[in-house]
Amino acid sequence: MRCNGRQPTNAADNARRAVTDALTLPQSSARGRAGRTTLSRSLTARQDAFGRSLLDYLHGKPGRQLVERSDGLIDAQSGTGMYFQLYAQWSDYERWAADLARGRVLDVGCGAGRFALHLQERGCEVVGIDTSPGALEVCRARGVRDVREIALADVGPELGTFDTILMMGNNFGLFANAGRTRRLLRRFHRLTTADARIVAEVLDPYRTDDPLHLGYHEQNRRRGRMAGQIRLRVRYHNLRTPWFDYLFVSADELRTLAAPTGWHVVQILESGGLTYVAVLEKAKAGE
Ligand SMILES: C[S@@+](CC[C@H](N)C(=O)[O-])C[C@H]1O[C@@H](n2cnc3c(N)ncnc32)[C@H](O)[C@@H]1O
Repeated sequence: MRCNGRQPTNAADNARRAVTDALTLPQSSARGRAGRTTLSRSLTARQDAFGRSLLDYLHGKPGRQLVERSDGLIDAQSGTGMYFQLYAQWSDYERWAADLARGRVLDVGCGAGRFALHLQERGCEVVGIDTSPGALEVCRARGVRDVREIALADVGPELGTFDTILMMGNNFGLFANAGRTRRLLRRFHRLTTADARIVAEVLDPYRTDDPLHLGYHEQNRRRGRMAGQIRLRVRYHNLRTPWFDYLFVSADELRTLAAPTGWHVVQILESGGLTYVAVLEKAKAGE
C-alpha cells in the first residue's frame, strides 16, 4: 500500500510561489468574457501556452508566462523554474504535502512532473493527468512513467483506484466552482480506497485588504458565485489557453463544501503566505 519509506532531507524554504502571485492580480474593470469555463478537454497547440512555456524552459529558455484575469489585468510570471524544482528546493509545506502521499497516487494537473517524479522515486505508483500536451511531453522527457492527457472532470473508474489524490500548485482551484467541487469530491470518494486522502493546495482569497480584490469578490457574489471564483487564462508568446475558472476558498468554506461529499478536512498546513495545504479523509460513520 505505502510507497517505500525513504524520506529525502529538508532544505531552505523557497521564495513565494509564482502561480500564487498570478492568481491574486488586482482588478481594474469587471467584465467576464469567458464562454467555456473549465479546461474540460485537451488543449490544441495554439492553446497550450503553459505547456509550451514548460517545454521552452526545459530547453533553456526563460519560459515566462502571462496570466490574464477576466477583468483584463495581466501579470507577468517569473517562476517557470519552480515547476522543475527538486524536493530539496521545495518549501516546507510542499515537502510535508508530498510526504503525506502514499500508495497509488493520482497527481491532478501534474505540470512538469515535480511531484510525480519525487513520488516515483519514493516507490509510489503515480498516475499524472493534465490537459496540456506540452506539460505531458515535459513529464515524459523528465522520466515520469505514467502520464495521461485527461482533464480533472473526466477522471473515472478506468483509471483504477487511488490511495492519494494530490492537487498541488494551487490545483484545488481546478474544481472551478462550488457545484463541480461537490460533484468531483463525490466521484473521488468512489474512486479511492477506504483510508484514502486528498492532499490539496488551496489559495485563501480573503488574505487581502486590497479594494480591487475585494471588489472582484463582491462582483462574484452578486453573480451568485463564490467570492473566490477567478476567471483567467494563461498566455505565452502568441498562445493562450481558453478562459477557465479557478476556485479559491478559505478553510471554513472548504469544510462546508466537503461536508456533504463524504470527505472531511483533517488537517490544514499554512504556507505562511496566501495558500494552505488541506488534507481530506473519508468521514467515518457518525462523523
Ligand atoms: C499551476 S500548474 C501546477 C503543476 C504541478 N501540480 C505543480 O505543482 O508543479 C497547473 C497544471 O494543471 C493543468 N491543468 C489545467 N486545467 C486542468 C484540468 N482541467 N485538468 C487537469 N489538468 C489541468 C495545467 O496544464 C498545469 O499543468
